[in-house]
Amino acid sequence: MELDWGNLGFGYIKTDFNIRCNYSNGAWGEITIHQDEYLTLHMAATSLHYGQESFEGLKAFRGKDGKVRIFRMRDNALRMQDSSDGTMMARVPVEIFEEAVVKAVTLNERFVPPYESGASLYIRPLLFGSGPQVGVRPSAEYMFIVFVTPVGPYFKGGFQTTPFVIMREYDRSAPLGMGKFKVGGNYAASLVAGERAHQLGYSNIFYLDAKEKKYIDECGAANFFGIKDNTYVTPKSTSILPSITNKSLMTLAADMGLKVEQRHIPVEELATFEEAGACGTAAVISPIERIDDYDEKKSYVFAPDGKPGPVCDKLYHKLLAIQYGDEADQYGWVTLVE
Ligand code: PLP
Ligand code: COI
Repeated sequence: MELDWGNLGFGYIKTDFNIRCNYSNGAWGEITIHQDEYLTLHMAATSLHYGQESFEGLKAFRGKDGKVRIFRMRDNALRMQDSSDGTMMARVPVEIFEEAVVKAVTLNERFVPPYESGASLYIRPLLFGSGPQVGVRPSAEYMFIVFVTPVGPYFKGGFQTTPFVIMREYDRSAPLGMGKFKVGGNYAASLVAGERAHQLGYSNIFYLDAKEKKYIDECGAANFFGIKDNTYVTPKSTSILPSITNKSLMTLAADMGLKVEQRHIPVEELATFEEAGACGTAAVISPIERIDDYDEKKSYVFAPDGKPGPVCDKLYHKLLAIQYGDEADQYGWVTLVE
């Protein structure tokens, strides 16, 4: 089978192998290799009833040199451990996480898209309670799985801006709730709002903090950043996912000579940004054209000509260059797969 590397979307394509590891009797077992895409699961598994589930998303890239590089997998391993702590699931040890990710990439190497395509291999680790419970309590057994699937460059026609919408009738997560963890329930909770935004022609909902509706939280399933006065500003909030892309962009911005501020951002401050972006693994940076405030009938425009601003552009290309190995990895973010 030959894939059309230049026209991949962001969807599931079957690959050859998935990697698994089970936890029971208080210990993790052996890492095993599977070809089956299906699972046999107890119908009373806690993941199915009580949402004991978390996942991660990271990517592997093929460079001009033909070598495959995995981006910041240790950070994803640590974030999955935080998600475990937040849902009382067993923690996947970093060594097991990393070994499973490397195995999944190595065994499915033929699915890592060629350099020229601008596509990459998306890696999806997931962890869930697999043991039966009917009372609300944590499972005694867990399954950790890593599968991979090739995905296209997020922007088919090149790096593009999109509009977002503020709607105060939807919250993604509570200030002391689960928003800071990468758990499935957060995504279920975002589907109605996301669908509404799509129907209205927006790329996604722009969430404000749930308590006061005063500060910026996240843009759909991505972190927000704004650029003004040579400063990179991103929200500090207890209800957003700590994005590894955002963390990387903060480092790159500081090294480019920008000031970096992580703080509360009042919604009205949107009027002062010269550029704005949503960031995450899937798109790296999704530059924001404008944010419409649906309730207040206001519009914050960042890209009147529809084009990404110069700082977004520079950060985007810099991060991609490190991921593809075009530029030296001076930060130790990349794992070369041998
Ligand atoms: N925020 C949410 C809710 C997400 O689902 C994601 C995607 O993973 C992000 C932010 C971006 O995080 P990262 O840069 O680690 O992919
Ligand atoms: C991202 O990678 O930016 C995401 O939001 C992942 C999404 C598919 C859950």
